[in-house]
Amino acid sequence: MSIELPSKEDDPHSISDPSEKIGNESFNVVGVNVLNQNGVDVPQIIQMLVYNASVEFTAYYYFTNLRMHCTGAEGESIKEVIEDARLEDLSHFESCLSRIYELGGSIPNNAEEFIRMSGCEFLQLPSPNRTDMKEILKKCLKAEQGAIVNWNKLCNITFGKDHATYDVAKDILREELEHESWFLELLYGRPSGHMKRKYHGESPHTAKHSRALDR
Ligand SMILES: [Fe+2]
Ligand SMILES: [Fe+2]
Repeated sequence: MSIELPSKEDDPHSISDPSEKIGNESFNVVGVNVLNQNGVDVPQIIQMLVYNASVEFTAYYYFTNLRMHCTGAEGESIKEVIEDARLEDLSHFESCLSRIYELGGSIPNNAEEFIRMSGCEFLQLPSPNRTDMKEILKKCLKAEQGAIVNWNKLCNITFGKDHATYDVAKDILREELEHESWFLELLYGRPSGHMKRKYHGESPHTAKHSRALDR
């Protein structure tokens, strides 16, 4: 029996220009080199992760404001559901961060730029009735559906090629699918099959990626 030794092409240090530089020091980032070998467009992945992080961060802010305006007896139960979705969006933001930096990316220095890139202005309070519960729920649903599209895209381009990013993206997608079903149930009576978390912000699929928030 013969053992196949790794070829030169398998050596992540052998790519023509694999090095990064800080000051006068250059060094190899094998975690990025292997992705280049796998045919991954690393700058594209970073760009998508930063964009998705901006959406999660901004949605967390807007869900905070929308939740405050769920008033009255009916509003109390809606508040509970928005609270779970809101805290899990924070978990999604946190879940993106380490991967962005491992890949050599960063979030914008200017927070306004970060929030603007999210395109989440539609999550402002309904007008003229700021406590219109149905309109608030429709906005929440639209945010969840947008998030599903965003994370599904990242899953598709990382599947089988960038295992670490895929692991994060598919776990966030799993929670977004649950959030969508909660708001569909509240708006249209379509059964979600699940609703309550054990505690607010449980993040059953992403807690392991956002341990900074340790619950
Ligand atoms: Fe989210
Ligand atoms: Fe969500």
